[in-house]
Amino acid sequence: MARTFRLAVAALLVAVVCAVDRNNFKSCQQSSFCRRHRAVKPGESPYVILENTLSVTEEGVSVDLLNERTRVYFTLELYPLKDATLRLKINEKNPIRQRFEEPYALVGGTLAEGFELVDRSADGFTLRFGSSRVVVRSKPFQAEVYNGNDLVISLNPRGLLKFEHYRTKPQGEVHPEGEEDANVVPPPGDVEDDTDGLWEESFKGHSDSKPHGPSSVGLDVSFVNSHHVYGIPEHADSFSLKETTSTDPYRLYNLDVFEYELDNPMALYGSVPMMISHTSRQTSAIFWHNAAETWIDIKKLPDSNVVSSITGFFSGGESDPPQVSTHWFSESGIIDLFVMLGPRPLDVFRQYGALTGFNNLPPLFSLGYHQCRWNYNDEEDVRQVNENFDTHDIPMDVMWLDIEHTDGKRYFTWDQHKFPHPLEMTANLTARGRKLVTIVDPHIKRDQNYFFYKENHDRDLFVHTKDGTEFDGWCWPGSSSYLDLTNPEARNHYSDTYMLDRYKGSNLDTFTWNDMNEPSVFNGPEVTMQKDNLHPGLSVEHREIHNVYGLLFHQSTYEGHLRRSENRLRPFILTRSFYSGSQRSASVWTGDNTADWGHLRITEPMLLSLSVTGITHVGADVGGFFGNPDTLLLSRWYQAGAFQPFFRAHAHLDTKRREPWLFDSETLSIIRNSIRQRYQYLPLWYTLFYENELTGAPPLRPLWVAFPEDEGGFGVDNEHLIGSSLLVRPVTEEGATSASVYFPPGVWYDVLDLTLHQGPATRTVSAPREKIPVYQRGGSIVPKKERVRRASSLMRNDPYTLVVAPDANGNAQGSLYIDDEHTFQYRQGQFLYLGMWFEGSVLTVKKVDPRGKYHTGSWLERVIVLGRTKRPSKVTLTSSAHGTQTLESHFEPASGGRVSRLTIRKPGVTMNEDFTITIQ
Ligand SMILES: *[C@@H]1O[C@H](CO)[C@@H](O)[C@H](O)[C@H]1NC(C)=O
Repeated sequence: MARTFRLAVAALLVAVVCAVDRNNFKSCQQSSFCRRHRAVKPGESPYVILENTLSVTEEGVSVDLLNERTRVYFTLELYPLKDATLRLKINEKNPIRQRFEEPYALVGGTLAEGFELVDRSADGFTLRFGSSRVVVRSKPFQAEVYNGNDLVISLNPRGLLKFEHYRTKPQGEVHPEGEEDANVVPPPGDVEDDTDGLWEESFKGHSDSKPHGPSSVGLDVSFVNSHHVYGIPEHADSFSLKETTSTDPYRLYNLDVFEYELDNPMALYGSVPMMISHTSRQTSAIFWHNAAETWIDIKKLPDSNVVSSITGFFSGGESDPPQVSTHWFSESGIIDLFVMLGPRPLDVFRQYGALTGFNNLPPLFSLGYHQCRWNYNDEEDVRQVNENFDTHDIPMDVMWLDIEHTDGKRYFTWDQHKFPHPLEMTANLTARGRKLVTIVDPHIKRDQNYFFYKENHDRDLFVHTKDGTEFDGWCWPGSSSYLDLTNPEARNHYSDTYMLDRYKGSNLDTFTWNDMNEPSVFNGPEVTMQKDNLHPGLSVEHREIHNVYGLLFHQSTYEGHLRRSENRLRPFILTRSFYSGSQRSASVWTGDNTADWGHLRITEPMLLSLSVTGITHVGADVGGFFGNPDTLLLSRWYQAGAFQPFFRAHAHLDTKRREPWLFDSETLSIIRNSIRQRYQYLPLWYTLFYENELTGAPPLRPLWVAFPEDEGGFGVDNEHLIGSSLLVRPVTEEGATSASVYFPPGVWYDVLDLTLHQGPATRTVSAPREKIPVYQRGGSIVPKKERVRRASSLMRNDPYTLVVAPDANGNAQGSLYIDDEHTFQYRQGQFLYLGMWFEGSVLTVKKVDPRGKYHTGSWLERVIVLGRTKRPSKVTLTSSAHGTQTLESHFEPASGGRVSRLTIRKPGVTMNEDFTITIQ
């Protein structure tokens, strides 16, 4: 044990020394392909379409593209897809070795849309598909994508396309003069001014051998008439993305960044190369499908300094339209770009979901409150924490165990001294309706006596070095090997290790946390793996798949959970690293944040960025991972976390214990109330996650999703909507007792004091320490469960409360989803999906999906109708099973800024029946 401990301490020191300083991560200047792409001069594109090579198939067209400077040929393919989506691919025509195409992110993107080829001439051609078209110009190559008559997205308008073809390494001294071929001698015009790092580069003592030389690809994409672009997580930066003219580009390269800095474009743990532009007329998006290291420059135009350099973009000599010009470049692979034309935010979510999949409905417990720290020390510690939540009347669904629960950081094992009875410990949690999560990371301790290492080693299922030996990197267990997740056998074997007879001490109530899967390698370049490492499974360098490694890991975990229950139960997996498509199998948290006000503030833009790029079950460590929050920060953080999708408190090993009851009674009461508020709104969250699986619409939304035409909301990233019914403005300013809230158009009801606010307007509202400003939108009906218990599973058959907040016309609507909350039976019809409408004085609740046959034990406990002008003379309920009956009600008139509240008591009708309630 002593030795293990020393290794852990050494590992910790390595992490601290490597990561605390931003100089340990590459700047663009230190990345040769980043420099080369930034150096491309606008307006001089050498790429031309050879129109006479155009060939047409059922799915699309293909045409040669020539780099006139190098005389290298490329193939350009265009595929019009269903639902206003276009795919563009550019690859080398005759590469000396095959270029890599990322095979894991997509689940769709193959449904062809019929198209028509028109206006074909030497100057280019047009493809019409649906109500869209793409106009391709030959010289230089450009493509303009229209929705109806509106030019939405322009490809290569600034001429920054650059595709580095594979070439043979110059062998100066080895080959005698005259033996060089065209691939060896740089063709005229391809001589890079900056040849440093073409064939080898090093960073901080790590050398990248780059055996295949330069191979990067880049293209510029303009969003026309746009001012705001969003997405491309993960960065600790604003939601509306900033210009990068005086900073590095935004970087996508999955990294374990120790104590990350705020408000900059540095890479973090995950990557989604998907960007959305939103204007009051048009929402559109692109997905740059490439899993290698990627950088993105952003420039807003027109800009007086650069307008003159834009060529061929806008004919007729009018002034250039405003646009956001983005420049994407990746270290290797091909150009594989999806353009999604919306035209509305919800359309883009659906279009992107059709490509990379939707978030599966999570089990309800995962939407409850999670209690984590590094570490709960032993079974007794877990037992006490579990009991204390009940003693202090605080709901909690899941307890988490970090790396110390294992036998020396050997995942799938238990520390025999601290956790000798894991099944009994788990049973003690489930007896109170709770679950357990344990951590499993992809670095495997190199120990022949450790079954999981030996099995993988014997079958050669680990990543190799460039020389073909098993890679040895430093991580929590010390010397570690890393699963080669490109090998189906490695994935399969890893998934099988979740079978209950293999993972001893686990059961169907044990769920999984995948951390360090960037992958984190403490002694590697930028705290990750060497790019020239080899993945034997696909026979590719790590460089090609780096950004998707984390996805392969958590997706295999998900598969393991499916197998252990024979596909019966919904998995729950939390991952730190992610890529496009991660939403299909994992929830994501924003990694190792810090207990300070800035990190609380940044949770909003970070979670918004993830949500709009498909990754929707997301949260940030409540309280901050590093450091000790004071009670004010901690209580403000609980208030925010309670209204964000994934709600987990977590803390570093070196921090003071911070379970809620360790604080003064005021702090404890704020934390308790926040968590209880979360549980009351679980029916709303759960309904939104069901709808998320159907449509791709994220539960946590920026204002422009519900108010696409309200320009006042486009730059807002300190508040969010839950669905389209709650507006939440977390207080993230130290010591603030008021908050400036932007109210989008319409009426908004303060959920606590029932004051009314009219938007659009920015108002300063009172936000004393115990209050987070939350408003229900006029026009919405929100389902709640107001009898909060110690865990969500104990509330399954509890009754509902419906809160009706009418709009200016007296109308409102909402939806409610109900099922067994943890199995996949809902996909066989075991669900209820109800629509709710309030029109004037009648509330109608009825099934909107007739396939739903679930029978719930829940019934309707009360209906609250806000803002009625007078006391009703009579309230009646009519249902199919019970005919018509009179209901009791209680009316509190408006007073002192509060709207009136009508409480209709005990309708008593079960949620299985369609019914109406009429107010007279
Ligand atoms: C389970 O709970 C019982 C009753 O509180 C306790 O005596 C026992 O030690 C617990 N077991 C574990 C492993 O925590």
